Amino acid sequence: MTNQKILIAPSILAADFSKLDIEIKKIELAGADFVHLDVMDGQFVPPITFGDCVVAAVSRLTTLALDVHLMINNPERQIEAFAKAGADNITIHIENNPNPQTLIQAIHNLGKKAGISLNPATPVAAISEIIPLVDTVLVMSVNPGWSGQKFISSVEEKIVQVRQIIETCPQRPLLEVDGGINEQTAQRALSLGADILVAGSFIFKATDYAAQIKKLKCPPSPSL
Ligand code: DX5
Ligand code: ZN
Repeated sequence: MTNQKILIAPSILAADFSKLDIEIKKIELAGADFVHLDVMDGQFVPPITFGDCVVAAVSRLTTLALDVHLMINNPERQIEAFAKAGADNITIHIENNPNPQTLIQAIHNLGKKAGISLNPATPVAAISEIIPLVDTVLVMSVNPGWSGQKFISSVEEKIVQVRQIIETCPQRPLLEVDGGINEQTAQRALSLGADILVAGSFIFKATDYAAQIKKLKCPPSPSL
């Protein structure tokens, strides 16, 4: 993996929502490449987080691209609202989408980038035909729903498999790894082919966001 550009997407799920404007400004100044927004509906996953109003508010607070991760049922009802709210990349899950191609096309028709995500228990085969159609592939390395969980190491094999498929795709979608990212797991994910690291608690639960982002961008060398 030479000339690998490492991109960092802080997940605001772990941010202090009582001062979101300050939190967003801090990650912007700290060198973040995207803002990752976890939308949950209490159906696809137990928690409810926020919807398009908050995405629109974040869009007014930053020039960073907004990476919107939809953990919701019936996302087709919401795509347009999130596009209008300022989402740049809209990621849907494979597990609750019988017609992902149609939805990806709808996202592209709205002028937005489209992503596909899969849960730790979902095999890569479930998205192999979708990968050539998308701009991002988001591999969940925790079960979706909460920040602060431990990286599930069995997904490492899936990161490798997704990377292999990506290498055959002319549009070369970016590979995101989301959940349990810290210095060590970042190094693992990057060595296996991740382009974008989504990190919530590793950044927002620390005091120096720039130092945390730097650690993810320059992870320690693998131990011998
Ligand atoms: C979980 C979300 C993640 C989460 C990551 O459902 O998709 O983006 O916020 O949080 P950490 O980095 O704390 O595991
Ligand atoms: Zn996420």
